[in-house]
Parts: sequence; C-alpha cells; structure tokens
Amino acid sequence: MNFTTRFARRFVRPTGALELMEDLGSARPGTLMLGGGNPARIPSIEAVYARRLAEIAADPAQFGRFAAAYAAPGGDVGFRATVAQTLAARYGWPLTERNVALTSGSQSAFFTLFNLFAGDCDHGRRQRILLPLAPEYIGYADVGLTDDMLVSRPAAIEELPDGLFKYHVRFEGLDEVPDVAAICVSRPTNPSGNVLTLDELSRLDALARRRGIPLIVDAAYGLPFPGIQFTDDGLLWNENVILCLSLSKLGLPATRTGIVVAAEPVIEAITAFNATAALAPASTGPMIVEPLLASGELDALCRDVIRPYYEERSRQAVAWLREECRDLPLRIHKPEGAFFLWLWFQGLPVPSPELYRRLKARGVLVLSGHHFFPGLEEPWPHRDECLRINCSQSAESVHAGIRMIAKEVRCAYRA
Ligand SMILES: Cc1ncc(COP(=O)(O)O)c(C=O)c1O
Repeated sequence: MNFTTRFARRFVRPTGALELMEDLGSARPGTLMLGGGNPARIPSIEAVYARRLAEIAADPAQFGRFAAAYAAPGGDVGFRATVAQTLAARYGWPLTERNVALTSGSQSAFFTLFNLFAGDCDHGRRQRILLPLAPEYIGYADVGLTDDMLVSRPAAIEELPDGLFKYHVRFEGLDEVPDVAAICVSRPTNPSGNVLTLDELSRLDALARRRGIPLIVDAAYGLPFPGIQFTDDGLLWNENVILCLSLSKLGLPATRTGIVVAAEPVIEAITAFNATAALAPASTGPMIVEPLLASGELDALCRDVIRPYYEERSRQAVAWLREECRDLPLRIHKPEGAFFLWLWFQGLPVPSPELYRRLKARGVLVLSGHHFFPGLEEPWPHRDECLRINCSQSAESVHAGIRMIAKEVRCAYRA
C-alpha cells in the first residue's frame, strides 16, 4: 500500500518503539528476554487481581462499569475521584476528579500532551518539548505530528565508587533553549533507573514557571504507585505540573490505563481528544484497582511486595554483572528505581546497535542504548556505549543473558 499523507509518512515507518514491541512479540521460544518493558508476573500480586475479577464478575453493578458501559471521555468518574482523593490525602494536593483524566496507557497521554503543547503554532513558530536529561525514554521519540519536536540535553555524569555512575541535570543554559513549550522528565528514568532528586525537580519546576510552560513528570515506575523507587525524597505537584501515572508497571499493562493529574484546562483538553480519538478509555484496569487504592491495600502491596521484588532483582543482577564482567570496563548506573539496569561499556569498540544485533543472533534480547537519546542534537560517543537490560524476568534467564552479554562484549574488545 502506498500511503501518501504526511500522517502516514510520520506514523507508518520503522521506529525504535516499533522494533522493540515487535521484538517482544516475535521472539523465538527460548529467547532470553532482557529487552522490553514488561513487568514481572508476581504470583501474590496476580492473586489479588484475580480476587478482584471474581468480585467484579459476581456483582452486576461492578461488571457494568468494568465491561458493559462506555465510560465518560475523561475515564471512569469513580476511579478518577478515588485517585484524586488518595493523592489529596497522601500529599495534601488540592485535587478533585476534574484534575484527573484517563488515557489508553500513559504512552497515549504523551502523544496527546506533546502535540497539545508543541508543534506548529498559530503564531507561526514551531514549539518543542525539552527533555532536560538525556538518556530519556524511547517512547517519547516519535509521537510528534511535526518533525524535530524534541530537544534534549546530555546528562552530566558523576562517576561513583564500585563501578557505578549517576546522571544529573546540567542546568547551565537550560533557560536559553529556544522554542520550548513544555519540559518533560521520567522519574525514575527509563532507561537508566535514575531518580532525579527533589532539588532537581524543584529547580525544573521553577524554570518551567519562569518560562510560563508546564513541567510533565512521568512517574510510570515511581510514586505513588507502583512505587518502584529505592529512594524517596518526595514528589511535587502544583497547577503547573502534569503528573502522568500508569497501571502498567503494577502488572496490568494489557489493561492499557494511563492517568494524567493536572490543572483542569489540561484535563479538559485530554478529555476532548479522547472523545474524538477513542470515545472513551477502558475501565477494566480502573475497576480492578479502585477499591485497592481506596482501602490502602495497593499502597501496602507496592511497599511490601512490588518494590522489594524489583530491588532484589536489581541487586542480584548487579552482583552477576560484577562477577561476569570483572575484566571489562563496565560502569552501571546506580539503580535507584524502575526495573532496568543501564550498562555503560566505556570505549566500546562496536556501536551499541551492532552489539544489540549480535546478542539477538545469540538469542538474547536487550535494548541498544542509542535509542534513548531523542532530541539530542550534538554528537556524544556515550550514546553508542550503553545497553539497557530488563532484570525483572526469571532469575535464570537474567543470569544466562548477563553471561552472554559478557561473552559478546569481551569478543568485541578483543577483536
Ligand atoms: C518511562 C515510561 N513512561 C511511559 C511508559 C508507557 O507505559 P504505558 O503506556 O503502558 O502506561 C513506559 C513504558 O514502558 C515507560 O517506560
């Protein structure tokens, strides 16, 4: 089929996100799945969701909301009210359901938000989204309806003891980046597991207000749920912050539920777009989670099961990496959250996309680091020296995958 529209040219083309999702879907049996962003299947958590499904099935009123009725275009009103009340009680933020909208996964919230704020504007200028710290989430890369929607800044690198390192925001010059319509960060960051400090977040908030633009905070892995964050120095929200949450990393990615918490005009814009693009978002995820959120059970599951699970996985994978790569110039980003490890092979002799291909040929799926620098205008060798691995899958496959990575990287340095 020969699609000739600009829309088709933009959205029917190979992208990092497409490659990654297709790799996940078409992997041969036996492939070691260290790529992708699938959460782990944690039996005790799934038992709670199964209990909820039985309760829903037994109650016609709940079943009606779950499957038999379109929700409002902003999403199920009862769930939105519960989200608002829970956040208000926990953080003291002045929220009602009019500050909350649901989307089909938070990925689609980024599509809507980025295009609401950036792109070709009535005043004739092309506005952009500023990602103040690259590496940043691959999924932001191709959602713009116009070209060059993203502009990013390379992180400052702090080398730490024990083969670790940590990224920080470089604030110099951020104020002067032209044509910026919004600032966006993921916290914890996918791919690196970095958690911006509250001080960094507050400075970005101040910068955004000075410029009269919103600050978008993507907490898909973070607080308040799923809370896969190993440091907790707080969270901020005000009328200038757009907080994006998701049910995916709680173990419910197939319910496709994103949650946007923002000032009412932003929520109204998302609601209007939802109505046009999809009529209404799904209510299945919200119905599973609502009473768990309202009763505090979800909070306890995040604190006592989900976060410790991923923290242990990450600790174990770091130990295996240190053991298997002891003769290699590997630095690991300090794991502060999410469920990835971000590996930096200093001076890697083959670019990371080539290393990705070699590993795929050996039956190990990882993600090449070069995908994670959307909007970076300047050359930076660092982008070709990194790999992201997902350490949430079975311990055996993560260990076997790490052994294979060490073997392949060793070959590359010796060639
Ligand atoms: C940082 C980050 N934000 C947003 C998303 C989108 O998640 P979903 O659309 O499943 O809510 C992901 C998915 O992996 C992610 O890693």
